[in-house]
Amino acid sequence: MLISSENFEKDLQRLRATALEALAKIADLRILEQWRADYLGRGDGQLTQILRSISGIPNSERPRAGGLANELKLLLEKSYSDQHEFLKRQEANNPTKRVELDVTLPGRPLVLGGFHPTTKVLREICDAFTPMGFQIAEGPEVEWDTFNFELLNIPTDHPARDMFNTFWVDGKQGDGWDGMLLRTHTSPMQARVMRDTSPPIRVLVPGRCFRYESTDATHEWHFFQVEGLAVDEGITFANLKGTLYEFARRMFGAERKIRFRCDYFPFVEPGVDVSIDCFNCSGGGCRICKDTGWIEIMGAGMVHPKVLEMANYDPVRYTGFAFGMGIERIAMLKYGIEDVRLFYGNDFRFLRQF
Ligand code: PHE
Repeated sequence: MLISSENFEKDLQRLRATALEALAKIADLRILEQWRADYLGRGDGQLTQILRSISGIPNSERPRAGGLANELKLLLEKSYSDQHEFLKRQEANNPTKRVELDVTLPGRPLVLGGFHPTTKVLREICDAFTPMGFQIAEGPEVEWDTFNFELLNIPTDHPARDMFNTFWVDGKQGDGWDGMLLRTHTSPMQARVMRDTSPPIRVLVPGRCFRYESTDATHEWHFFQVEGLAVDEGITFANLKGTLYEFARRMFGAERKIRFRCDYFPFVEPGVDVSIDCFNCSGGGCRICKDTGWIEIMGAGMVHPKVLEMANYDPVRYTGFAFGMGIERIAMLKYGIEDVRLFYGNDFRFLRQF
């Protein structure tokens, strides 16, 4: 087919423009190779195709056309090798350039956190008591001997101190008090709340406690308790029973039975340990209730008149009840957890289950 050298030249110019424009945008060696194939490829590269049409040009004009085509070929080859060298150097200076990013891949799922079992159960306990009028309060984890023991009717050298193995803190003295420790229970807040407020009192105190224990499946040196305190005129043991019965039903099921047995805590009189009938075997006997049919869930009692007196309350006018329970223990019962050390072992296989 005959073509004019004019058209041929126009084709060359157009090719030159598009090829150089495309080349200028290339920042990747693989795409550069593709460019070379597109424009300079021997089989069906665009320049090769134009060169093939040179036979259609009249003889007399052919040398000039061939010359121009050759010029363009050299220009494209030179541009290719310049760009190749440039990109090579850039890649050598920046190893991350080689990492390819596939933007079409689905994103990595966000890992959602969850609540710690202690937190979950603590919230449930609070939710059971707050509708009965209890307010939440928190106290210091490092406590004076005075609040942890003295004002709870546990004087220095009283044998009842043996119930609490204590972490003492060295060299602290202040506010007129001496002897500082990591609190062994949340009960010191009984004394603090009575000192700082006046009746009627209905307060719930969750918090961390510490005891100098060797750890095993049921003992930790660090754990959580929830304390409860109600003080007013005319509070009786019946109020204690009704409140804790209601709590047990809300926490462990509406059909729960509750049992009170005598127990000793220096700051209550009478003192009791509170049990519920086993929710697993309904009293028949199983592993959870150790074949007794009953599960202990907390200590409780009527606030000792001496404790009221030390808080400057008239024990003839005011009475009250108090209770305290271990949150991990309640969680272990609820979820069937067999080892308290799992709670603070930071093992995701355990924590993820809640
Ligand atoms: N503080 C007691 C303990 O840690 C529990 C308790 C609280 C008992 C309140 C009676 C009343 O063992």
